[in-house]
Amino acid sequence: MKKVDIRINVNGDWYELSVSPGDRLIDVLRDQLDLTGAKEGCGEGECGSCTVNLNGQAVLSCLVLAAQADGGTILTIEGLQKGPEPHPLQKAFVSESAIQCGYCTPGMIMAANALINNKTELTENSIRKHLSNSLCRCTGYDRPVKAVLKAAKDLKEDINA
Ligand code: FES
Ligand code: FES
Repeated sequence: MKKVDIRINVNGDWYELSVSPGDRLIDVLRDQLDLTGAKEGCGEGECGSCTVNLNGQAVLSCLVLAAQADGGTILTIEGLQKGPEPHPLQKAFVSESAIQCGYCTPGMIMAANALINNKTELTENSIRKHLSNSLCRCTGYDRPVKAVLKAAKDLKEDINA
């Protein structure tokens, strides 16, 4: 099948890639760029483990064609930490014991990252509703919700500091 050329910004770097029209974003991230943080669970939009941010929104990378992301800006879990310290969401998931096997964690954190960036006021309910798109078989949602609330507070304090 004829390949198409795309240009995508991933975690701050531009990549020019040749993809098949049917290639999914998750495959290009994992197989071409070696970014394996986004996980394939169901492969059909049900579990959220493949969540990344595309142009600031949480998307399921198993449902997005790489060609659809042409020109776009993608953030994956690997690009979340900006300095020497982990991102506040990463720190909070650890400090609130919101991780067990960790399979759902990258997707859940990237869903939370988009939520925090796009919503000024977060409540326990709004976070719980948003995270319900990410299936977690081990930890449940109480601890991740607490972690997201903590990270949102920490980020707000950093901005106001
Ligand atoms: S692998 Fe994408 S939603 Fe499950
Ligand atoms: S921590 Fe295991 S699936 Fe969520």
